[in-house]
Amino acid sequence: MRLVLYTGKGGVGKTTTAATTAVCAAQRGRRTLIVSADAAHSLGDVLDHPLGSDPVPLTGNLTALEIDARVEMARHWGQIRDYLVSLFRYQGIDEVVAEELALLPGAEELTTLFAVEEAARSGSYDFIVVDCAPTDTTLRLLTLPDVAHGALRLLLRLQRSIARVVTPLARSLVPIPMPGSEVFADAERLLYDKLRGLRRRVTSSDTSVRLVVTPERMVIDEARRAFTDLCLFDLSCDGVVMNRLLPEAALREEFFRHWGRLQAERVEEVKGVFAPLRVLNARLQDDEVVGLQRLEAHGRELFAACEPDAVLSRMERIRFSRDPDAYRVHLPLPGARVEELDVAKVEDELVVRAGSMRRALKLPRRIAPLALGSARLADGQLEVVFPRERKDARERRDARERKGRRESKDGPPVWEA
Ligand SMILES: Nc1ncnc2c1ncn2[C@@H]1O[C@H](COP(=O)(O)OP(=O)(O)OP(=O)(O)O)[C@@H](O)[C@H]1O
Ligand SMILES: [Mg+2]
Repeated sequence: MRLVLYTGKGGVGKTTTAATTAVCAAQRGRRTLIVSADAAHSLGDVLDHPLGSDPVPLTGNLTALEIDARVEMARHWGQIRDYLVSLFRYQGIDEVVAEELALLPGAEELTTLFAVEEAARSGSYDFIVVDCAPTDTTLRLLTLPDVAHGALRLLLRLQRSIARVVTPLARSLVPIPMPGSEVFADAERLLYDKLRGLRRRVTSSDTSVRLVVTPERMVIDEARRAFTDLCLFDLSCDGVVMNRLLPEAALREEFFRHWGRLQAERVEEVKGVFAPLRVLNARLQDDEVVGLQRLEAHGRELFAACEPDAVLSRMERIRFSRDPDAYRVHLPLPGARVEELDVAKVEDELVVRAGSMRRALKLPRRIAPLALGSARLADGQLEVVFPRERKDARERRDARERKGRRESKDGPPVWEA
């Protein structure tokens, strides 16, 4: 099952491009689902058909769905949410406000992914296209399975230790409603099964993100940052859609000469900065691209030379290597700048911060006990070196650990030129 998610800056043509991709794939025989994961749904307007939170068949091979996060929340957060609502209400908070508060940060994004996952597992589709919200929200959406795993584990540990003390004996005496064991069961299921499933789905080689850009400075810069952040979380991109390119005829007009030069420069720039991603060009149509017919025509141009559900390009993923002196972690981070990077080892995790995004990467067992040596950023790739220990050092460490002393955090790495 192939999954493609479209994102990019607000207004660049994400919904149009996602709908075009789905219409084109359906026409070429793939059983296709187009999903709107943007809370400000406009997919129905683009397809010119009313949509809802249940799948709506549009043509023989094409089905569309607008995810209603609230409906999904009720299904997927079940008892955890009920417990939080009762907790807030007990503290004198109005029911409506309590329900709002119980929308845990990120819960909406997670339930959106659950809905996509459910469709993916249904076996009804060969291809699912997701029209995402603008970049920041999409990054939150796609990185949540990774981030939520750690946060939820901590929350559970905390809740459990409280519950062990006050339930069931003191349940009636404690001035707050305590969660029953079914809440833990719910949370555990969420934690271990669903999050792992989602993480597997978003990082699968059948899943790709495509960035939509227009030939404008701010738009391209935002997409570049998104590209780095997606790579940090091991999410693969397979293409960039360069949308709203002025057609040849317009460029012959005196007024558009300068725009034409800028456009040519930016087309070249996009090819360079997003390499090795394939760039698909979409020209500015003479009217808005609305309705199946116009989408089909737009799709014939956009996918003239490739299939809409193909993996348009393959990127390098995170990889580990070993030589006689050291273990190395290689993390592709195209577009990252060394002054915005921070690398640390915390317990058995390698923590990498690139700009405002931070990822804690669990290290393989062989590398986890080693001290962080140096880090190097070259050709869009971060290389972190963990020198191998000499035998005597390893023996000393083993002895230390037997005594129960564990180093929690290493000092900053030495950046190599
Ligand atoms: N290649 C194109 N030619 C002509 N019009 C286009 C093209 N691409 C998009 N449009 C038009 O631009 C407008 C915005 O497109 P769209 O809704 O797809 O953007 P979006 O990125 O999804 O926006 P939002 O961030 O608000 O979700 C729409 O009216 C759409 O018809
Ligand atoms: Mg949109």
